[in-house]
Amino acid sequence: MNRDDLIKLLSLTDENQIEELFKKAYQIKQEFVGTKVYYRGIIEFSNYCVKDCYYCGIRKSNSSVDRFMMTKEEILEAAKWAYDEKFGSLVLQSGERIDREYIDFVTDIIKEIKKIGDGSLGITLSLGEQTEESYKKWFEAGAHRYLLRIETSNRELYQKLHPESHLFDERLNCLKTLKKLGFQTGTGVMIGLPEQTIEDLANDLIFFKEMDIDMIGMGPYVLHQETPLAKKVNRFDSRKQLLMGLKMIAVARVFLKDVNVASTTALQALDPLGREKGLQAGANIIMPNIGAVTYRKAYQLYDNKPCLDESAGICKTCFEGRVEVIGESVGYGEWGDSPHFKNRDKTKN
Ligand code: 5AD
Ligand code: FES
Repeated sequence: MNRDDLIKLLSLTDENQIEELFKKAYQIKQEFVGTKVYYRGIIEFSNYCVKDCYYCGIRKSNSSVDRFMMTKEEILEAAKWAYDEKFGSLVLQSGERIDREYIDFVTDIIKEIKKIGDGSLGITLSLGEQTEESYKKWFEAGAHRYLLRIETSNRELYQKLHPESHLFDERLNCLKTLKKLGFQTGTGVMIGLPEQTIEDLANDLIFFKEMDIDMIGMGPYVLHQETPLAKKVNRFDSRKQLLMGLKMIAVARVFLKDVNVASTTALQALDPLGREKGLQAGANIIMPNIGAVTYRKAYQLYDNKPCLDESAGICKTCFEGRVEVIGESVGYGEWGDSPHFKNRDKTKN
């Protein structure tokens, strides 16, 4: 498939043709990754952030956010719960911080989580741009996957979405470092950003391929009213955003085949059935929130975040139902690593 093919698929408007695309993507998913859905219990443990991205609700300049940091005990309690409930893996996510105290805190948490059930929980980190030294420390402590979205592969657009000090090349270098260190590496973009074109999205998919990425976590851009980017949007069309998000998942599956693709929360912010639709369009990973409900409201990257009041237990059971309804099952107790990582040539970065 070349760029034109990708553009053609992403441009589909005919309902039957879109349905065909989703079907094709689903077949490829069945063939290359199967129909087991893997849970990554996500713990959003802090919303302190040194970055000021124009689209994000917890950006440094948003003074109406109550800043919090979960304690070590609270994080470990959530991790222990995930283990008892047979989740294969966890994701630790927070706003970005690069100070020594934070780095050491995370290192300690990773080591402690690794002690639960004799290292049986897989750990994915989603903690932004860090130095090679910090990444290495965390890898050695036992984290084996890292998610760092490129947000958009279009440099000019990237710069419009971020203050001048946030550099595209820095993000790119971080991704390369993560791969070099041996992390299963995930990236992704926001879909349907102001000024983003279909060509940009096709280029994003080509970027994933060229970077030989193992995991994709991407979702529609969703407004957050207290951000500068929201002011640039005249009319926000949820249906359009959702559809483009689903088409990107489907085309990513058809194009990249054996990578893990997440059905992200942003889909559900736009449609109550958004995440099921994501699975049916080719995604195979779901990230239920397992942190305490107390902190959910303070961790809103965009408006309409779902499950604000649902405890981890409710979300788990709810998702189980959602997965079964579409004829799939949950891969309990398994890591569900990206087959692409196993297949790829690790001597090449
Ligand atoms: N809409 C959709 N996704 C967002 N993110 C941040 N703000 C928004 C928004 N308004 C995504 C970014 C980031 C991830 C943690 O959340 O892609 O990398
Ligand atoms: Fe959270 Fe349904 S997914 S309550």
